[in-house]
Amino acid sequence: MTKITITLCGLLLASASYADGSATKGKTIYTASECVRCHQTNEMFTRKDRKVKSLSELNSQVRKCDSQLSTNLFDDEIEDVVAYLNEAHYKFSIKKSSKEDSDDKTKE
Ligand code: HEC
Repeated sequence: MTKITITLCGLLLASASYADGSATKGKTIYTASECVRCHQTNEMFTRKDRKVKSLSELNSQVRKCDSQLSTNLFDDEIEDVVAYLNEAHYKFSIKKSSKEDSDDKTKE
């Protein structure tokens, strides 16, 4: 029993390291997602009276939008999409430095 518990803890620790969103992955996820069904352009992210005013609002809006879809992104995918949208449009300051500036991978 103890052995099983220790193994489980190890697994949890190992998978906890994804938590910082990756803009590179987020771009891929976003581009391939159903998001673009409603957001064909980036207009809504760049409009003057856009609603999202902070990173946490961005996070909850992405979750809200995602919940209208049947795709249901995982938490880490949400983080990635938030990181991507933030880097591309919103530019809220985040604690971690943007180590992925040169991530201009080819678009779909
Ligand atoms: C069913 C259509 C639909 C889908 C699918 C959708 N959105 Fe949205 N999204 C909207 C609408 C409508 C708004 C504007 C909400 C408002 O103004 O109250 C919005 C707003 C947003 C905003 C905030 C824009 C602002 O004003 O700053 C973000 C960010 C966003 N969506 C991201 C996403 C992401 C990421 C996905 C995919 C996971 C997604 N959306 C999927 C309809 C959609």
